[in-house]
Amino acid sequence: MNPFESLGLRHDGRTLWVLDQTQLPDAEVWLDGSKPETMVTLIQRLAVRGAPLLGVAAAASLATFAHRGASTTEFTAACAALRAARPTAVNLMWAMDRMKAAPDPIAEARAIFEEDVRLCEGMAGHGAALIQDGEGLLTHCNTGGLATAGIGTALGVIRRAHEQGKSIHVYADETRPLLQGGRLTTWELRRLGIPSTLITDSMAALLLRDGKVQRVLVGSDRVAANGDFANKVGTYGLAVQARFHGVPFHPVAPCSTVDLACPTGAAIPIEERDPAEVRGYGSLRWAPAGMPSWNPSFDVTPADLVTSLVLDRGVFSASELSSGVLVRVCAKEQFPC
Ligand code: MRU
Repeated sequence: MNPFESLGLRHDGRTLWVLDQTQLPDAEVWLDGSKPETMVTLIQRLAVRGAPLLGVAAAASLATFAHRGASTTEFTAACAALRAARPTAVNLMWAMDRMKAAPDPIAEARAIFEEDVRLCEGMAGHGAALIQDGEGLLTHCNTGGLATAGIGTALGVIRRAHEQGKSIHVYADETRPLLQGGRLTTWELRRLGIPSTLITDSMAALLLRDGKVQRVLVGSDRVAANGDFANKVGTYGLAVQARFHGVPFHPVAPCSTVDLACPTGAAIPIEERDPAEVRGYGSLRWAPAGMPSWNPSFDVTPADLVTSLVLDRGVFSASELSSGVLVRVCAKEQFPC
């Protein structure tokens, strides 16, 4: 296989390496994700995460498996196991369906990787054009190079605006309970030299009220045909707060995140994770052991709270979304399940 590399993924021609995102920002540890059964575990424990990267990493693992001589039966079983590793990010299913149908899985995995890099560039170009000099920007979870094969979705837009010389300030939500904003987005923002401040999720409304934020940009794990979308839990609350304060709110996603088989957000499956993740983090626990807790990993934001959706192929307003624009612009991306 030909080598390839992104911020969180490396293939040296023989072995697929993934940056263990659970150890960031303290340590940069690369793990062998060549075996699909290992990749399933890495995905489930969020060592590899972010909707587009899930598809790219799972495809790369399958391609490595094929390269090492997996039989058709083994390949098909591995494809099904990877497809089911997490339920909400449709990029994972989209990539696995492509891999299953592809005559050459090694070439297909490379195409999925390269396409994702291009999709990120498309979103960055369209989204950065919305951002004005001097804006304060609020973002949630991690949507950058760690979550994609390229420069990211929402964070890619922010990065492009910074590269264009716009003076911006980013407020990064910590993102309870697994702290993707506090651990990962801050790590990326500092590497990129983008002026930024970390806040807890509960501080966002104050920033919006005080006029410190002119735009909210978030990623998505699945966009329904009507523009409703699932993203990291807390996104819906941010959308409500942004609407209340009259601040533009934009999900940013590639067409590979659009699922036309879901007519509305009600059809999007939402991952529920171990309730213990709400009671503590790492070795630290702050709630009584066994305290009942609830841990939906994502929530669904209705399209009517969206100012516009930034896709790799353009920016679409709430009224365009409600008139079915996604069916027209994303139809050819869809794969039969
Ligand atoms: O549970 P995670 O960390 O995989 O959730 C990631 C998100 O919610 C991102 O916002 C989403 O995948 C879109 S970013 C590229």
